[in-house]
Amino acid sequence: MGLGSAARSGVAVAAWSEAEGSAIIGRHIGRPGPLLPILHDLQTAFGCVSAEAVVAVAEALNLTRAEVHGVVGFYRDFRRAPAGRHVLKLCRAEACQSMGGEVLARQLLDRFAIGWDGTTADGRLTVEATYCLGLCACAPAAMLDGQPIGRLDRATLDDIVREVEP
Ligand code: FES
Repeated sequence: MGLGSAARSGVAVAAWSEAEGSAIIGRHIGRPGPLLPILHDLQTAFGCVSAEAVVAVAEALNLTRAEVHGVVGFYRDFRRAPAGRHVLKLCRAEACQSMGGEVLARQLLDRFAIGWDGTTADGRLTVEATYCLGLCACAPAAMLDGQPIGRLDRATLDDIVREVEP
């Protein structure tokens, strides 16, 4: 299996910067419904919505930290810590479960001694759960750095691990 560019597309992100964070927030202040666009832009810039970012957003929008945390926690796409250089999403919805997706996922997570949303110790790979990628006919399904992968099996997972090696 050739994973091509997907296996080389880790995105570099910057460490939290108060100045840059404030500039991002400032671009949305005064617009209707600024919270989600701010959180998306902060995550794009810094790879996650960190505790520092939550404080800055709460102060800027006159919200409590708990309110901002609540929104970050509600949407699975927001991360509290930066992802690894590659992100593998494994489908845990019904069709993929019935085709052995959970067993494959457990084997991969155990191999790296991580849990769901965990990142390997070397920072190469984050493994996240997702719930239906629209590839049910090709279950079990996954997505590596945005590239869909159908009919996942042990050999494919081995290929993925090999191709995202540091
Ligand atoms: S249930 Fe896994 S892709 Fe739809």
